[in-house]
Amino acid sequence: MEYFTTTSKASRRAADCVVVGVYERGKLGAGAADIDAASKGEIRRQIKSGDVSGRLGRSAVLTNVPGVRAGRVVVVGLGKSGELGVAQFRRAMAAAVQSVSRSKSKEILSYLTLEDVAGSDAYYLARHTVQAIGDGLYRFDEMKSGRRKGGMPLRKVGLATSKRSDAARSMRGAEHGDAIVMGMSLAKDLGNLPPNVCTPAYLARTAQRLAGKYRKLTARIINETEMKRLGMHSLLSVTAGTREPAKLIVMQYKGVARGQPVVLVGKGVTFDSGGISLKPGPAMDEMKFDMCGAASVIGVMATVAALKLPINVNVVVPAVENLPGGRATKPGDIVTSMSGQTIEILNTDAEGRLILCDALTYCRRFKPAAVIDVATLTGACVVALGHHHTAVMGNNDELAANIIAAGRNADDRAWQLPLGEDYAQQLKSNFADMANVGGRDAGAITAGCFLAKFTDGMDWAHLDIAGTAWKSGQKKGATGRPVPMLSEWLLARCGALP
Ligand code: BES
Ligand code: MN
Ligand code: ZN
Repeated sequence: MEYFTTTSKASRRAADCVVVGVYERGKLGAGAADIDAASKGEIRRQIKSGDVSGRLGRSAVLTNVPGVRAGRVVVVGLGKSGELGVAQFRRAMAAAVQSVSRSKSKEILSYLTLEDVAGSDAYYLARHTVQAIGDGLYRFDEMKSGRRKGGMPLRKVGLATSKRSDAARSMRGAEHGDAIVMGMSLAKDLGNLPPNVCTPAYLARTAQRLAGKYRKLTARIINETEMKRLGMHSLLSVTAGTREPAKLIVMQYKGVARGQPVVLVGKGVTFDSGGISLKPGPAMDEMKFDMCGAASVIGVMATVAALKLPINVNVVVPAVENLPGGRATKPGDIVTSMSGQTIEILNTDAEGRLILCDALTYCRRFKPAAVIDVATLTGACVVALGHHHTAVMGNNDELAANIIAAGRNADDRAWQLPLGEDYAQQLKSNFADMANVGGRDAGAITAGCFLAKFTDGMDWAHLDIAGTAWKSGQKKGATGRPVPMLSEWLLARCGALP
């Protein structure tokens, strides 16, 4: 995609498609006011006739507007004036993209970036514009037979700026947004692929392919023989029932010569049947999304590498399939984790923590500056926070606060849940150092407490993305979250934000 900025008026640009906004009660946004003046009141007439509305999320496409050089004018509702925040801005831009996504426009020039958006600036508005376009144009039709439907042939995105001095910030926002879209699209593709294609081996090959593309990025795949040697019996217990070989994927991006790396760990269960503690049938297909943690950290790695960020980042992905079988792990089995701690497996469906604990122990060798694990870990997290916020837990409140702040800027929100000894008590086992489940109450938190037992001495945060990584129902599909939040956190951390 090509990006440019412009300070010229909306009516003067001969673009395929310009996007302008109107507020409720007839207040015109900057671009709309100019087009209205140039066309002798066309926008106001359309508002009167009811064809254009200021309601948030509404949009109309006007063609051949007199006095306007652009072929199409997309007028979107911005909601109540004074209530335009980043979330509303993204909704409005998404509506604009939606309304031209079937057109043959090669170019979109947005004037929404001229609006006053609370808590935002030229950089973030450019980034969110690019992300809204990327989200809106994303399609997953790899698995459909027949001729692909031609999507929108978009090649150029323009961003209006009010002053020339904003142009550099705006271009930087577009560049970052473009890389975030690329990382999110990779994460969505991996999530959406069926579990007979996206196996642990497929995730491993994806990591290797990515490493082949970027000079500062390497990938190493650890197989089951080596895992045994490392003592990863907790991880290996999850893969015991399947014929798909487990893989431990280790990626390293070296953006600076010195400095401890940040390590991102992603849960890569390519299908979670529950194992012997078999899940019920309805919606079990959605457990193909149980590798979205892995997909998101691999996606973030792609973003980081594309932007050549000056930071060291490692990714560790334990990738397995959780199936029942003659050799599968049984409730009651006790395994020794790589840390030496023993675990009584009371429920084989609590498998995410069993692979993550060994991956976290493996991370120690990197002496990480911080470790963040990302996992579709618990149904209880969805009960607690629904589909809007990712849950954050951890052993360092400053780290958690920084992640949450990053989520706010990126409009990819997170909310903290507490950890602590009171909850950890629920994991007591009569026979081993701990059980792998802590009962029904506070299920997202007790899962976090389990992981905490493997993070002593490391600054660590845990993201439970069970509610945010994918959508169910008609719009079933991976969301690419939390790629924006983690990318923002890394951008801030290495000083790459303007
Ligand atoms: N992958 C699931 C968590 C999940 C369930 C995410 C539904 C999104 C929607 C995880 O492996 C799991 O099965 N967790 C169990 C834990 C329980 C057995 C303690 C759960 O949440 O039911
Ligand atoms: Mn499970
Ligand atoms: Zn799972």
